[in-house]
Amino acid sequence: MTDKMRTVISPEQIEARVRELGAEITGVYQGQPLTVVCVLKGAFLFFADLVRRIDLDLELEFIRLASYGSGTSSGELVFSKDLETTIQGKNVLVVEDIVDSGRSMDFLLRTFAERKPRSLRLAALVDKHERREVPLDVDFAGFRLDKGFIVGYGMDYAEHYRQLGGIFEIES
Ligand code: IMP
Ligand code: MG
Repeated sequence: MTDKMRTVISPEQIEARVRELGAEITGVYQGQPLTVVCVLKGAFLFFADLVRRIDLDLELEFIRLASYGSGTSSGELVFSKDLETTIQGKNVLVVEDIVDSGRSMDFLLRTFAERKPRSLRLAALVDKHERREVPLDVDFAGFRLDKGFIVGYGMDYAEHYRQLGGIFEIES
């Protein structure tokens, strides 16, 4: 891949922010156990770093969403991989890479809410506002961006660039 890219967030900035988020999350739950849910694939690096900064008794879970139809944000959403545990009565923190239209997390949070967790919150590495279609609050947001298409630190363009340590914008 030979896309032109410019650095938006450096690995050092990510590390510092993830450390802050971990401390904030640790404080919010006050010693209670927490089930942390990684939304594959995009959140895998953020999740791996974040859970190591949370000082609580954690249970780690992985899910994957798929949409029928083309594009990242259109079509009907389904779980192509669901939780392997019940979340009824548990504190649940969903960890996502980026919230764009808000449709994916709206679907996921509504579905999880029906399973009657004790609490349900959302952490997203990037909260991107320009194309938000569904009102959605990100409880723990790493970075806020107005617009642009970004890759790296888990995020992809056609499955490329997920392994990059920083976050880059693809210049069109
Ligand atoms: P939604 O529009 O909020 O439902 O976001 C759907 C998904 O699109 C996100 O979870 C990401 O996987 C992907 N996505 C949205 N914006 C970007 C971006 O700038 N770079 C990479 N993936 C993105
Ligand atoms: Mg995603």
